[in-house]
Amino acid sequence: MHSTGVTKPRRRIMCVGMCVLDIIHVVQEYPIEDTDKRCLSGYWQRGGNASNNCTVLQQLGATAVEFLGMLSASPAFGFLYEDCKKRNIHIENCPSTDMDPPFSSVILNKATGSRTIIHSNPGFPPLEYTHLSRIDLSIYGWIHFEGRNNESVLKLIRDIRAHNKQLKNPDDRIRISVDLEKMKEELLELGEAADFIFLGKDFAEHMGWQQPDVAVMGLYNKLKPQQDTKPVIICPWGAVGASCVDSEGNYTFVPSTPVSEIVDSLGAGDTFCAGVIFALYELELSVPEAVLFGHGVAGYKLAHRGYDDIKDFKHET
Ligand code: FRU
Repeated sequence: MHSTGVTKPRRRIMCVGMCVLDIIHVVQEYPIEDTDKRCLSGYWQRGGNASNNCTVLQQLGATAVEFLGMLSASPAFGFLYEDCKKRNIHIENCPSTDMDPPFSSVILNKATGSRTIIHSNPGFPPLEYTHLSRIDLSIYGWIHFEGRNNESVLKLIRDIRAHNKQLKNPDDRIRISVDLEKMKEELLELGEAADFIFLGKDFAEHMGWQQPDVAVMGLYNKLKPQQDTKPVIICPWGAVGASCVDSEGNYTFVPSTPVSEIVDSLGAGDTFCAGVIFALYELELSVPEAVLFGHGVAGYKLAHRGYDDIKDFKHET
């Protein structure tokens, strides 16, 4: 648990996106094609960017956390529900389908620390605006979106903005963040509508921005803001650190915390996002301080299997 000694009440943080099954194989070295090998260890866990964000926020001690995404009612995957419940991640607003959920086969290579993900999603139904519009916005303080489903998400963001406008106390407004990871240029529309953007390195490179400073400034200059101010942009750039630009265009680079041994790199990016959101919202840190906190949690995660040990993470200031 982290505490700033601030007593301001916090509302729920909701992460909107996917919940998938991750089937993980830890191998000594990356397998050669068409061979039959045993892994060092194997396990499965709940995954998906938004679902991982929720797990990490909960482990860090966020006041209340909710996942919103399509869930599978298929009995074989009941553990995805159970795991959310066990961890006190709210899922009461999630629609569900009888289809099996998307899943990922993941190879964690002990020799290099790399994670290779092969994802399968044969037409799992996406969230529609009708699923999103039922929620009572007054209980949320922060809503984070995995960059996907532009049409539905943009409608919900419009509702959030309308909700924020009619509030008497501007401190009660819902902050909106978006994770731009998938390499689809049309997702920039979601970024334009948000207060905070997490810009993925692969997405940045896909846009032709080959350096961290070029990436955040490139996006900053490209965005046509839909509010009075432009969004804050944070771009984690692998092991080196993250570049950030605030809404006034001030640039900072925050180097990351070195990690001695990589045990598990699956979901490190999701951990970073969740860490930054936690630090901005729950700890009220500045953007560079929150990014440093995000690096700390992501580094800690890299050194531990899964997400459970994050509850013991201590931030050194
Ligand atoms: C990690 C992750 C995994 C999931 C995959 C989906 O960031 O969310 O948990 O299998 O990405 O792309």
